[in-house]
Amino acid sequence: MKKIGVLTSGGDAPGMNAAVRAVVRKAIYHELEVYGVYNGYEGLMEGNIKKMELGSVGDIIQRGGTILYSARSNEFKTDAGQQKAIEQMRKIGIEGLIVIGGDGSFRGAEKLTQKGFPCIGVPGTIDNDIPGTDYTIGFDTALNTIVNAVDKIRDTATSHERTYVIEVMGRDAGDLALWAGLANGAESVIIPEQEESFESVVGKLKRGQERGKKHSIIILAEGVGSGVEYGKRIEEETSMDTRVTVLGHIQRGGSPSGYDRVLASRLGAKSVDLLMDGVGGRVVGVENNIVVDHDISKVLSEKHAVNMNMYKLANQLSI
Ligand code: F6P
Repeated sequence: MKKIGVLTSGGDAPGMNAAVRAVVRKAIYHELEVYGVYNGYEGLMEGNIKKMELGSVGDIIQRGGTILYSARSNEFKTDAGQQKAIEQMRKIGIEGLIVIGGDGSFRGAEKLTQKGFPCIGVPGTIDNDIPGTDYTIGFDTALNTIVNAVDKIRDTATSHERTYVIEVMGRDAGDLALWAGLANGAESVIIPEQEESFESVVGKLKRGQERGKKHSIIILAEGVGSGVEYGKRIEEETSMDTRVTVLGHIQRGGSPSGYDRVLASRLGAKSVDLLMDGVGGRVVGVENNIVVDHDISKVLSEKHAVNMNMYKLANQLSI
């Protein structure tokens, strides 16, 4: 393989730039030509592709977002769209593609691979919801953004003796909520995988109030439903002064943590190794701190599981 491409797709995640840098530098190190595809699969179909040099990825390891931009594309889900994308790459002589994104992006990579165009998936999403890897690029940074935000909310919650419902991202996944719940010592963590009954949440709040607690924090994953609605129910049921904060897209931005930069560098480099070995249809990841790769269809057929021991621990520590 002499020429490869790289794109970022779906929701951006801090550390995507570090992954792009690793792909570009590792490819050039091995004397490959590497092409950046702009605007995800949309740009791929349009041929928005530019050759990358060592300097193209200078000064980006610390930057959030993605210098390649990102998009979600409906046209690319069609056979015609995928064919168009392959033709664009063949025109330039690109023989393999690295896709940095989440499960939606990997479905596109799976389709291209099935059509004879080898692709490697690099898990880049704050949700940490990709099977076959302990962590996805961006999760650690987003977690720390939440932890810092909740620390600030806790200050004002204590001053006013309030209860807070904090809604965090994670469309179908509770990892961000669960980890933040543990890290912030939240009274309750509400996640799609294991919903705590409303009665139990209220019971805990009331017991805390009786013990003289000055504030309560409930962290709710957006996949469960609206934090605003949940906050209203809490206030109605308990008469506690309750506020809601929806952290939103602030969780997706910012400079990547050291961990995310290292993870992105390792996974980006591994994806180049795989293409150089003539391998496609794989998703890279890290398990027990070892870089691994798995079949892309297998990854897509499985569901990421939250760590239920951590969930139990969060409950035990918030009695
Ligand atoms: O998948 C990453 C993610 O940030 C989810 O946590 C969230 O539900 C979704 O993307 C939001 O997507 P958008 O930026 O398109 O609103």
